[in-house]
Amino acid sequence: MEIVLLYGGKSAEHDISILTAQSIIQTIDYHRYAVQPVYIKQDGIWVAGEKLTQAPDKEWSLTLEIADDAKYGADQSTGREVVPTDVLSENTLAFPALHGPNGEDGTIQGLFETLNIPYVGAGVLASAAGMDKLVSKYLFEKAGIPQLPYIGLTQYEWQTEQETLLNAIQNQLGYPVFVKPANLGSSVGISQANTPDEVVDSINLALQFDRRVVVEESLANAREVELAVMGNDYPKVSVPGELVKEQGFYDYEEKYINNTVQMAIPAHVSDDLMAQLQTYAKQAYVVIDGSGLTRCDFFVTQDEKIYINEVNTLPGFTQFSMYPSLWEATGKPYAQLIQELLDLAMQ
Ligand code: DAL
Ligand code: MG
Repeated sequence: MEIVLLYGGKSAEHDISILTAQSIIQTIDYHRYAVQPVYIKQDGIWVAGEKLTQAPDKEWSLTLEIADDAKYGADQSTGREVVPTDVLSENTLAFPALHGPNGEDGTIQGLFETLNIPYVGAGVLASAAGMDKLVSKYLFEKAGIPQLPYIGLTQYEWQTEQETLLNAIQNQLGYPVFVKPANLGSSVGISQANTPDEVVDSINLALQFDRRVVVEESLANAREVELAVMGNDYPKVSVPGELVKEQGFYDYEEKYINNTVQMAIPAHVSDDLMAQLQTYAKQAYVVIDGSGLTRCDFFVTQDEKIYINEVNTLPGFTQFSMYPSLWEATGKPYAQLIQELLDLAMQ
C-alpha cells in the first residue's frame, strides 16, 4: 500500500510540520508501505516528490529537495488551485502531517472523504471543532469539563458593542486576560492584556487573524499538563506530561521549533489527579468526536484544580515532541505508534 504523506502546508505551522514529516518518513515500515511525499508550499501549491520505497537519507529529508517538474496543485497562470487527485488515488492512505488551518481543521479531511480514501487522524467534525477555540469551549462545557471563564466575540459585536464587552471582560474575567483568534493553531495572534487599553489592542490584533475571538481569564503560575489520546471507538489515554516553564508564556517558536521548553514525563502528579486528568482527556476526545489521535492540554493550579485549555487533533509529532513522548512513557515506542495510527486509519 502507498502512504501519501502531506506536509508543510498553508499555515503558520509550516515549519513544525516539516519536522514532523521528517520524523515520520524515517520511521515508516517500508516493508509494508511505499511513501509518496507531497510537500504543500506556503502558498498552497502541492509538490509531489519521488516515491520512496525505503527511508531517504538524512540529507534528503533535511533539505526536502523536490524536483521542479514534479509539480501538482495550483495553475501558475490563473492562481487557481487544482486538486491533485492523481496522488490521492485508490489504494492510497493519506497521512496529513499538517498542523493548523488547512491541515488540522477538517478542510483537507473533507477532501479525503470526498475522494473516499482513508486517512490518519481525526475526521472532519473533530478536526474543525478542535481547531476552533470557541466551538471547543461550547463542547467542553456540554461535557462538564472545567475550563477558565471566557467571553467569545465576533468582529461585528466588537464594532457595535465594544463598551458592553469591555465591561463584561472587566467584571466577569478581570485582568490579566489572554486574547486569542478562535481559529488559529500555534500562538499566532495571541497576546496577554493587563488593562482595558491593552485588551482593545489585543482584540484588534486577534481580529486580524479571525472574525471571532476568545478572551479568557489568565491564570498565574498554572502548570501546563498534556495527555495523549488515541483510538477510534475505544480511545486510550497516556500518562500526563508537563511543560516545565521558567516564564509565563512561551511563543510558538520557543515551544515547537527551538524546544526551549523542557518536558517532565510522566508529570509529577498524584494518582487521583492523574485519574481525573485521564477522565477529562477521554471526555474531551469523545465530545469532539475524536478518532485517530489528539493531544489534550490542561492547566493545573497549585491547589490541583484542573482546567482544560485545548485539544490538538494533529499535535507536533517529531520523535521528541510531547505526543509521541507521552506514548513512549506509556509503553508505546514511536514506530509502533505510527503503525497503530495507520491501522486505525484503515478501520
Ligand atoms: N500546534 C502544535 C504543532 C502542537 O500543538 O503540537
Ligand atoms: Mg494548539
